[in-house]
Amino acid sequence: MTSHPAAADGGSFAGRMAFITGAGSGIGAATARLLAQRGAAVALADIDEAAARSVTADIAERGGQATALRVDVGDVRSVQSAIEQASAAHGGIDLAVNAAGITGPLQPCGEYDLDAWHSIINVNLTGLFLCMRFELQQMQRRGGGAIVNLSSIMGSNGLAGAVAYAASKHGVEGATKAAALDYAASGIRVNAVAPGYVDTPLISGRTPGAQERIVGMHPVGRIAQPGEIAELIVFLLSPQAGFITGSVHLADGGYSAR
Ligand SMILES: NC(=O)c1ccc[n+]([C@@H]2O[C@H](COP(=O)([O-])OP(=O)(O)OC[C@H]3O[C@@H](n4cnc5c(N)ncnc54)[C@H](O)[C@@H]3O)[C@@H](O)[C@H]2O)c1
Repeated sequence: MTSHPAAADGGSFAGRMAFITGAGSGIGAATARLLAQRGAAVALADIDEAAARSVTADIAERGGQATALRVDVGDVRSVQSAIEQASAAHGGIDLAVNAAGITGPLQPCGEYDLDAWHSIINVNLTGLFLCMRFELQQMQRRGGGAIVNLSSIMGSNGLAGAVAYAASKHGVEGATKAAALDYAASGIRVNAVAPGYVDTPLISGRTPGAQERIVGMHPVGRIAQPGEIAELIVFLLSPQAGFITGSVHLADGGYSAR
């Protein structure tokens, strides 16, 4: 087995333990890979356990330390059990990335499907709160830590047809700020990242015309790659971001600057 160069020299996250939701795909998977490259032990949690296992195997093959777990972030028992398992596997949790998320149908508010509303709020907002709740308990035991939550450009803007997604992401930003204030004096930092559109399965399946319109919303003329968002997340988890808490960090190719 070839050891990954960054894992071999320890990287800047050596000795740190990270719990990542939505780690089987997209931004969560890219973040897990980058943290492992930089020396962290990573617990990859996803409702799609096979996907989490496949990313975990790839990280392990490159010399990283990784564990796969099944979690349904909308279910309190599942969240508590996954975080306890991750903590037991790696000896605690001091970093967390809450990236599990879903979208729904595009429908006007007056006709919005009620089941879709409840699912999106349950996964994107209640799920994120449940994860933070148990992650923070673990971090308090370690005497410090850092959390990054996934918001979106829809955390501060509307999008026609996306009432539930926009409401959930506005909620993520409020929850991030409130939790940051709760733990600011305890050495635990809580921030959010708000990406523009990112090339992941979450936004696949659109017609070529719709894809073109999405690209056109970004002044840089393209959407992001997951690894670009992971770089910002990993910076916010690092000691170099020690004075940054309670804030939302855009990575949106100029979307919000217009
Ligand atoms: N892709 C984008 O354009 C974009 C833009 C802004 C913000 N975001 C946000 O970034 C985060 C990651 O999105 P992505 O683009 O990587 O999506 P993705 O679909 O590639 O990955 C999301 C992962 O979350 C998992 N998941 C879904 N429901 C879950 C549940 N109940 N419990 C546990 N895991 C669950 C999925 O199985 C999947 O592996 C989401 O919160 C999303 O809202 C994405």
